[in-house]
Amino acid sequence: MSQPDVYSAPHRAIHWIMAILIVGLVPVGLYMASIPYPPNPGANPALKDNLYELHKSFGLIVLMLAIARVVVRRVKGVPPPEPTLTRVQRIASAAVHHLLYVLIFLVPFAGWLATSMCYGPVKLFWTVPMTLPFSGQESTCTAIYRVHLGGALLMTALVFAHVGAALMHLVIIRDGVFRRMWPTG
Ligand code: HEM
Ligand code: HEM
Repeated sequence: MSQPDVYSAPHRAIHWIMAILIVGLVPVGLYMASIPYPPNPGANPALKDNLYELHKSFGLIVLMLAIARVVVRRVKGVPPPEPTLTRVQRIASAAVHHLLYVLIFLVPFAGWLATSMCYGPVKLFWTVPMTLPFSGQESTCTAIYRVHLGGALLMTALVFAHVGAALMHLVIIRDGVFRRMWPTG
């Protein structure tokens, strides 16, 4: 297959939808987990439940988009590294992109697994049943949630670096890196 010079339209659509979802899921995840249960002061069970439901549902959508992204990548291909990149930039961006790929699977899967095992049922937007057929002890679920949180924090740090690099290419270096991924590429 000949290599395209920009990411395919479906690849760019998935990238930006996923980016918006992830940027929302992290603060909402931290906030919802911090809302106290009754009878503690500040408890708001209805808000907590709704945010958990939305977090889990949009998190599952990220996982579905991650699968779609890999399929689109295989079918449509991706552009070769931008020729303006130095060797170091090429290695650094490949490392960050690979890690992000691991995390867009690992983080939602860990959340889904732990929730199914200990705090099910999991439903997509209050309706479609999505609970995984596994059960486990609370200590196992706590450990998996730690992976979920640790992965989400690592992902946040990488996204900061990733956005910084993308903006540097757009504003300072002014090469084609940003355009390759921009929706109107
Ligand atoms: C928030 C979650 C995000 C994730 C998980 C993510 C992930 C990725 C990955 C894995 C790639 C490599 C292309 C691929 O193989 O799919 C990529 C490329 C890119 N991303 Fe993101 N991204 C995120 C957010 C952003 C944001 C907010 C921006 C802009 C400010 C951005 C700008 C870009 C650009 C310009 C490229 C193209 C880089 C190149 O051509 O090598 N990304 N992104
Ligand atoms: C990319 C997708 C996701 C991201 C970035 C993300 C991020 C987060 C973050 C930052 C927290 C706060 C952790 C804490 O304070 O302990 C959290 C909590 C949580 N997440 Fe996710 N999440 C994602 C997907 C999912 C999915 C798919 C599910 C389940 C189907 C899920 C279920 C939960 C639950 C139940 C909690 C609360 C844990 C607790 O109360 O200690 N998450 N998530």
